[in-house]
Amino acid sequence: MPGAGRILAVALLWSWALPAGAQPETAEAITHRVCTGCHSLQVVMDTPKDFDTWHDTVQKMIDHGAQGTPDDFAQIMQYLFETMTTVDINHGDQDELMTVLHTNAETADAIIARRATHPFKDLAELEAAFPTLNRALLDSKKRMIFFR
Ligand code: HEC
Repeated sequence: MPGAGRILAVALLWSWALPAGAQPETAEAITHRVCTGCHSLQVVMDTPKDFDTWHDTVQKMIDHGAQGTPDDFAQIMQYLFETMTTVDINHGDQDELMTVLHTNAETADAIIARRATHPFKDLAELEAAFPTLNRALLDSKKRMIFFR
């Protein structure tokens, strides 16, 4: 997923450029500002998609006329990645597992190592094998987490 890295690099550069003391607008607030001009946010928050599909959808919205800076769109992509992106636990890469499950690189790598010999069959099995994962978060994201 080379696109994700590029977008994140842009977001990181932007955060260095902020004047000292300025309160950065949160990614959620940016998404509200940019994505509710033509339809409600419900349209956005109702339809989990995989990362590449979100990328295409946001590009389509830009073509429709959505207005924002490149950093706004980088932040929106990151927000969608963290909150509304689907992941296949048995195939997702390290970046996807970390971002969708809100976990660290060590845990993502351990999931990848474990599934090589024992693919996970459901959320209960994942939670049992990795008790440090945030259960409340995973429960709230059930419809976005797949085991293929
Ligand atoms: C300039 C108007 C406009 C803005 C701003 C806008 N959209 Fe849309 N959006 C549309 C239109 C028109 C449709 C219905 C036609 C379509 O699906 O392309 C739509 C439909 C959608 C859909 C449902 C269709 C699908 O592909 O799943 C999603 C999701 C969506 N928009 C996400 C977003 C996001 C995320 C943003 C902010 C980056 C955004 N929109 C900002 C015009 C806009």
